[in-house]
Amino acid sequence: MSVHKEIRKVTTHVLSEMKLRGEKISMLTAYDFSMARLVDEAGLDVVLVGDSASNVMAGNETTLPITLDQMIYHGKSVVKGVKRALVVVDMPFGTYQGNSKEAVQSAIRIMKETHADAVKLEGGKEIIESVNRIISAGIPVMGHLGLMPQSIHKYGTYVVRAKEDVEAKKLISDAKLLEEAGCFSIVLEKIPASLGEKVASVLKIPIIGIGAGSGVDGQVLVIHDMLGITQEFSPRFLRRYHNLAAEIKGAVGAYIDDVKSRDFPNDKEQY
Ligand code: KIV
Repeated sequence: MSVHKEIRKVTTHVLSEMKLRGEKISMLTAYDFSMARLVDEAGLDVVLVGDSASNVMAGNETTLPITLDQMIYHGKSVVKGVKRALVVVDMPFGTYQGNSKEAVQSAIRIMKETHADAVKLEGGKEIIESVNRIISAGIPVMGHLGLMPQSIHKYGTYVVRAKEDVEAKKLISDAKLLEEAGCFSIVLEKIPASLGEKVASVLKIPIIGIGAGSGVDGQVLVIHDMLGITQEFSPRFLRRYHNLAAEIKGAVGAYIDDVKSRDFPNDKEQY
């Protein structure tokens, strides 16, 4: 007898149900097929094809250089590895800030070419026309407020955002605006925990935090950071679950030794 195990795909609706019943949402980034398959099989709820690919995959200082074609390449690879999780693809810098027509065209390309479930955009009031138009085209949108890495040249630093009253009020009003526009969720990055909790309690849609405290509806981290592949990046909010950098270097070192000493390949490892 074959046992057919049905997989219930995570949808935006499932995420709002999770918020309603108080179940926390788990989200991580992935940029390629193999890692996407592993995080999905581990039971992750949301896979973010983050534009942090610009940093961790391409070695750039910021997220700004990554292109739409490159995000589509990563998005396609991730979608092929995922059966259950919701897949969200970041819209890269310069593909939605200019005007809403360009924004909807970029979002449509992402959805058509990657087969992802949703897109993510950074910003509030300033990009609301783009958000409206993308949602009108039937594309689910995740917002992103607080520290917005695509605006790094405006702020000049990656310090905690919205500590002052004026910035905190703007963040709350932007979050409400995004919810009213129809965003299904918002990421809040590097803000005081009390503000994260407030936004999550005022809004009905799920709020996912990265450095936004424990009072939000879910958490996201960059996979290379939480697995300890990146070594130099150590913000307070990051919990490292592994030291893969050491493990990978150890394994590669052992391989080099075996090749040099002629131990590899042995008799059983050849034809
Ligand atoms: O690009 C990314 O990885 C992100 C997360 C930090 C939320 O936007």
